Amino acid sequence: KIKEHIARVEQFTASEMGEIEAFRIEYLGKKGVLNDFFAAFKSVPNTEKKEFGQVVNQLKDAAQDKVNALKEALEKKTVNKNIYGDLTRPAEPVALGSRHPISIVKNQIIDIFSRIGFNVSEGPEIEDDWHNFTALNLPEYHPARDMQDTFFIQTDPDILLRTHTSSVQVRYMEEHKPPIRTISPGRVYRNEAISARSHCFFHQVEGLYIDKGVSFADLKQTLQYFTTEMFGKSRIRLRPSYFPFTEPSAEVDVYWGLETETDYKMTKGTGWLEIMGCGMVDPNVLQNCGIDPKEYSGFAFGMGIDRIALLLHQIPDIRMLSENDVRFLGQFKSVL
Ligand code: PHE
Repeated sequence: KIKEHIARVEQFTASEMGEIEAFRIEYLGKKGVLNDFFAAFKSVPNTEKKEFGQVVNQLKDAAQDKVNALKEALEKKTVNKNIYGDLTRPAEPVALGSRHPISIVKNQIIDIFSRIGFNVSEGPEIEDDWHNFTALNLPEYHPARDMQDTFFIQTDPDILLRTHTSSVQVRYMEEHKPPIRTISPGRVYRNEAISARSHCFFHQVEGLYIDKGVSFADLKQTLQYFTTEMFGKSRIRLRPSYFPFTEPSAEVDVYWGLETETDYKMTKGTGWLEIMGCGMVDPNVLQNCGIDPKEYSGFAFGMGIDRIALLLHQIPDIRMLSENDVRFLGQFKSVL
């Protein structure tokens, strides 16, 4: 008979406090089933006392466990109901990430050039000699190759980490016919000592415009449009320079009004700040890429995203851009 009770207790379920309480009283109350059995203990023959006692205790434990379990389940349900039943409660806060300053600046540059018809092109970071050097008018043993300290793949001198995204422009010219208007953002690598001002990898955006009758005046006007949109500064200066892939070549300075100590340092006190290299694409390069230099001409330019990010966001050390310190990255939450 006790065993029947145990089976019943184990199967019992209830979802209301009243039912659980009634069940508790029925079994564990003063006049409950258990007390009846305990009272009957005296009249059990001595030989059966031990077994009887064990079974009664088993029933007692089962009843107690059941009451506890049901009460706990009920409480949990009530708590959940209070939380999820209240539709006016604010949601759990979601931790928002922030864009990396490199991405912010890169997107701004892409945006500015896309407004005057430039598309975005990409290429591999592991390049071959042809696309990074030879096609760009830098034949083997050309001294200008040393301008960009290159990481080579040890087993194959033909394979290297691209030193500029001019390699993407070569690929683009090989695959497309003019008119070409494209910018190539991406990561580049140079075997340089790491310091606050330079790293062994950084990011560039290079631009290329090729069509019939493209002139140096088009280049200058495009750059002026860019610096005005990007920095709010329209006064630029082109200094003669040298790149193997452009002729003539120039370095672009913007006049940076001297307002702060940082401005002064960045411009070395002259007010002029160098921001990129540019020039008219060398006819040899067009030829190498299957474009007839008698029919077409074009200009190219290239700038470092990291340096511009440092400048615009007053970041004192280029290494902060690749350390992934969330205290640093979190400061760009409000920017785009
Ligand atoms: N490729 C050059 C560099 O990495 C930049 C550049 C691009 C200069 C296009 C002129 C024309 O420094």
